[in-house]
This record gives sequence, C-alpha cells and structure tokens, in this order.
Amino acid sequence: MSSPAAIDNKRMPGRATPQGTLRYAARFQGRAAPGHFREAPGGLVLSSIGIGTYLGEPDEATDKAYADAVVAAIEGGINVVDSAINYRLQRSERSIGAALKQLAAKGFSREEIVLCTKAGFLTPDGEMPDDANEYFSREFLEPGIFRPEEIAAGCHCMAPRYLADQLDRSRRNFGVECVDVFYLHNPETQLSEIPAEEFRRRIYEAFQFLESAVAAGKIGAYGLATWNCFRDDPKSQGYLSLAAMEEIAREAGGAEHHFRFVQLPLNLAMPEALLRPNQVVAGKTMAMVQAARAVGITLVSSAALLQGQLARNLPPYIGAALGLKSYSAQALQFARSVPGVTTALVGMSRVEHVRANLEVIGVEPAPRDQFLKLFERSG
Ligand SMILES: NC(=O)c1ccc[n+]([C@@H]2O[C@H](COP(=O)([O-])OP(=O)(O)OC[C@H]3O[C@@H](n4cnc5c(N)ncnc54)[C@H](OP(=O)(O)O)[C@@H]3O)[C@@H](O)[C@H]2O)c1
Repeated sequence: MSSPAAIDNKRMPGRATPQGTLRYAARFQGRAAPGHFREAPGGLVLSSIGIGTYLGEPDEATDKAYADAVVAAIEGGINVVDSAINYRLQRSERSIGAALKQLAAKGFSREEIVLCTKAGFLTPDGEMPDDANEYFSREFLEPGIFRPEEIAAGCHCMAPRYLADQLDRSRRNFGVECVDVFYLHNPETQLSEIPAEEFRRRIYEAFQFLESAVAAGKIGAYGLATWNCFRDDPKSQGYLSLAAMEEIAREAGGAEHHFRFVQLPLNLAMPEALLRPNQVVAGKTMAMVQAARAVGITLVSSAALLQGQLARNLPPYIGAALGLKSYSAQALQFARSVPGVTTALVGMSRVEHVRANLEVIGVEPAPRDQFLKLFERSG
C-alpha cells in the first residue's frame, strides 16, 4: 500500500498563474472575441464563462459525462472550472480530476486552468451511506474533526479542523497540490442559527485557517460562495455586508489578505447583485457589482441559466436587445455581460451543451448601453 506521502507525490503540482492563464487565452486568439478573457486583480486571466458541476446524479454515467464536458470546455476556451466537495457526493471533483489528467496528456498545463471548489456542507464519500449519522459520527465526530456544537442546521460546519480535512479531500479528489480558489460554501446557512457575534468569530477563524492554507501552498486564494446573503435586503436576517467580510479578512490576514472571490447567483431572473443597492463601502451605498470592485473582490456569478429554466421561452425583447438566436445563448450573454462580473458559471454535464454554449465566446459581451436598455424595456 502507498504511504500518504507517496500518494501526495502523484498529485499534479503547480497552480493557475498569470502567465499560464495568459498563455491559455492566447491559444484562442481569433476564436474568442475581445472581452471574453478578463484579467482579475492579482493577474489571473479568466474566461467570461466557467463550467459548473453541481447538478446530476451521483452515478458512473454522470461521472464520465462531466469528465468529457470539462475536457471539451477547456479545449474550447473556458478555463474556469467550479465545483464543491458536496456536488454529487465528491464525484464531481473526481470527474474534474479525471479530466485534468486527460487535459495534461493533450498538452494543457495546470498553470492555465483556474480550479475552484467549496467546503461547508457535510458530505458523504461517493454514495449515500445507509446511516448518514453513523457515517458522520465515525468519520468526523469521533476523530475530533468537528464538535456537535460546531454544526449548524444539521448540515453545515466552518470549523478550521473541518475545513482542513475537506481541503485535503478536495485536493485528493482533484489529484492536485493546490486549489486556486477555495470558497466557504453558503456560509449564510449559519446566520439564522447562531448570534451575529458568534457568526463573525467563526468567519474570522475560518479566514485565519484559509490564510494559513495559502501560506502552505494548498490554495491560491479564498472566497465566499453564496446564494442569498449578498442579494438580500440589509434588514433581513440572512444579509451580509461585503465590507464587513473584507474587514474580517484584514484582521485575519492583514492588508495583503487573500479573500479575493465572491460567488453569487446573477441571471435574467435574479438581477439583485446588479440592481439592488444593498451594500455600503466607505460611506457610499451601492450594488454588489460595484461593492466587489470597490474592495478588490473578483465577482463570479452562478446559475447563469437558472438551473436550465432560462434555456426556454424568454420574452422576444431579450433576443432583440442581445442579438443571439437561442434562449440559452441570450441568457449566457446577459450573465457574462454584467459590468463587474468576471466569470459567469453555467452547469454543463453534456458535451453538446458545452459546444452550444461556446458559441457566445465568439461574440463580444454586450456593451453597457445595450445592456442597460434591456432593463428600461423590461420596465
Ligand atoms: N451557492 C453556490 O455556491 C452555488 C449555487 C448554485 C450554483 N453554483 C455554481 O454555479 C454553477 C452553475 O449553476 P447551476 O448548475 O446550478 O445552474 P445553471 O448553470 O443555471 O444551469 C445548469 C443546467 O442547464 C443545463 N444547460 C446548460 N447549457 C444548456 C444549453 N445550452 N441548453 C439547455 N440546457 C443547458 C445543464 O444541463 P446538462 O447538465 O445536461 O448539460 C444543467 O441542467 C453550478 O454548477 C455551480 O458550480 C454555486
């Protein structure tokens, strides 16, 4: 049997770099329209569309489908790959790991690909155990990886020892030494369960751990992957202030902290991050897209197609404004054109969907005035 160190040695070294991602973009000169590749603060060059790996069954057919889809995406001009340890019970991360091996054999280097994942939700290993409580108790409680009082809503944990465990599992699943962006997954899950001060303390300790993971070369940067908290009304219980989160990162990591990414849903049906002025930065009230820019955070949007629903029956004025034929292309063009969004994630387990969605990379993102007209017309 191999020792853990020997297994470690087999991991793909390296990480996404400014030079590697720039070289990736250069492969698509002439095929990708200006504006498809965007430079994030820190110098990484990201594609305007990223491949997500959330939906689908935890079975072998979907494992293979995702591996093929990730290969097709990277071959086609998409260099942002998004996962989470709980997606399909760790199987999506393993599909990406299989794709990375195939891509290496095809001449794509680790330095070209921006690999992102998330931790927070309790996750079985590959399949649902007969008795989930017994599994989590044996795997995490008994070895002291988390304590019962660190679990919120029966499913969520941000304790440093747990994050360390999850990060090592994700690195193993991907077969890499370093994950480029490591997100706390839906931290707002804990907001209704614990007092605000305790929530702040948990985020601080999580960020401290994440800074140490950067220093150890296990992650390149970290972020918050969210659903409601940055889109909500400031008065709601589930709301978070981006400036307050950035302040915690400064406390944990100093002025050069590595809290660099936020993920939230932004699509034709969920435009709050663009339209709702719910954030205050340096005394000014603004929407999330502006707040993220003001604090130097790269914004990644999720659910570009509202989990497939925007791939059918959009009103005709959207096509008239954005000028692409299929509904899915129109919805993607909207998501990737939002000023302030660097990458719009779209879930794709089928190669045919990757190929269809690659159509938009040959088109420039909608210019600001065209984009804003869309909202005047929608009233
Ligand atoms: N809180 C969070 O952190 C959070 C929440 C949600 C999502 N995300 C991330 O964002 C990614 C995208 O969101 P999502 O996957 O939930 O939803 P989505 O991107 O809005 O939609 C994905 C669905 O659309 C289908 N699809 C893709 N291209 C299509 C096309 N051209 N025509 C018709 N259908 C098409 C996919 O089918 P196939 O699979 O069959 O190709 C899949 O069923 C996720 O995968 C995940 O990485 C993060």
